[in-house]
Amino acid sequence: MPFDDELFSGANVLITGGLGFVGSSLARQLVVLQAKVTLVDSLIPEYGGNLFNIHDFRDKVSIELTDVRDTKAMATLIKKRDFLFNLAGQTSHLDSMADPLTDLSINAVAQLHILEACRLHNPDVKIVFASTRQIYGRPEYLPVDEKHPTNPVDVNGINKLAGESYHLLYNNIYKIRACALRLTNTYGPGMRVKDARQTFLGVWLRRVVEGKPIQVYGDGTQLRDFNFVSDVVKALLRAAGDPASEGQLFNLGHWEHISLEELAALVVRLNKHGRYELIPFPVDRKAIDIGDYYGDFSKIQNALGWSAEVLLESGLAVTLAYYKKHHAHYWNSKT
Ligand SMILES: NC(=O)c1ccc[n+]([C@@H]2O[C@H](COP(=O)([O-])OP(=O)(O)OC[C@H]3O[C@@H](n4cnc5c(N)ncnc54)[C@H](O)[C@@H]3O)[C@@H](O)[C@H]2O)c1
Repeated sequence: MPFDDELFSGANVLITGGLGFVGSSLARQLVVLQAKVTLVDSLIPEYGGNLFNIHDFRDKVSIELTDVRDTKAMATLIKKRDFLFNLAGQTSHLDSMADPLTDLSINAVAQLHILEACRLHNPDVKIVFASTRQIYGRPEYLPVDEKHPTNPVDVNGINKLAGESYHLLYNNIYKIRACALRLTNTYGPGMRVKDARQTFLGVWLRRVVEGKPIQVYGDGTQLRDFNFVSDVVKALLRAAGDPASEGQLFNLGHWEHISLEELAALVVRLNKHGRYELIPFPVDRKAIDIGDYYGDFSKIQNALGWSAEVLLESGLAVTLAYYKKHHAHYWNSKT
């Protein structure tokens, strides 16, 4: 189905987690599409929010430095919005094990408050929720489709599953139009690379730019799929704009599947110098590792006409170039 970009022109859009990696990329595109965009973000230092992510269009959006757990503030912010892209989240799997209640409060409880605010103050809003492939746990078969059982291996996966389930429940019971995209590993300019809190690939990029070896855990044979952030932004916009998404869950994914060792070698090759090493899995990471994963994204292909377009090699080259140029805004040598 052709996608109507005009839909967003003049639309009143709220993005939670809007200073984060995916949220800021989405905001940039919505500004191009002439939407009126408000970003909500708490800028908690351990998470992915970064004002530099919007440096090129900061004067074209409104920013609310608010925590989504602030129910009163969120009730006000939700009023009169046409679209809510609900992307705020605690994303670290290890942090969710060390501090499970904070993960619960952001990824589940706050989501329920946001939905209640929609029910009470803006039932006509269309919501797109950013879920995660982590909810499937260790795959029982590949590629993983949406019918695969959900067996999260960490607290983060359980709370994100609750978050997406609340969205579908409010769609089904209260007719608040909502859908959820289960993102796979997403990468691109603006991702958190300071450490591995958002994704292991982030810290790999930092290390290779710093001239340090990339550390690959285990034997490096684990398979993954990756989406470049512009493809994820397209999926979010399609999901928002197309009524066929209502009440639905969709996997994102890519037809390119790559082992972690091959990925490390590719990053080193694109960087033109550096090296990688295989090291034993740290015990805490091994306990929540999911083994091989790649997703079946034919459902969103058929329903919304979305498909991944950016090849891993070209997306990684753009991402590396970005961090070589802008690394001072994402880490300093002491952190
Ligand atoms: N990037 C990926 O590979 C990936 C994969 C699967 C799912 N997701 C999901 O996509 C969404 C966006 O992820 P991202 O990669 O952009 O991460 P990110 O950390 O860059 O963005 C999340 C944003 O939410 C903000 N935030 C966190 N807690 C908040 C709170 N209590 N109140 C207000 N703002 C808060 C953070 O400051 C950050 O800016 C998340 O919900 C994440 O679970 C991302």
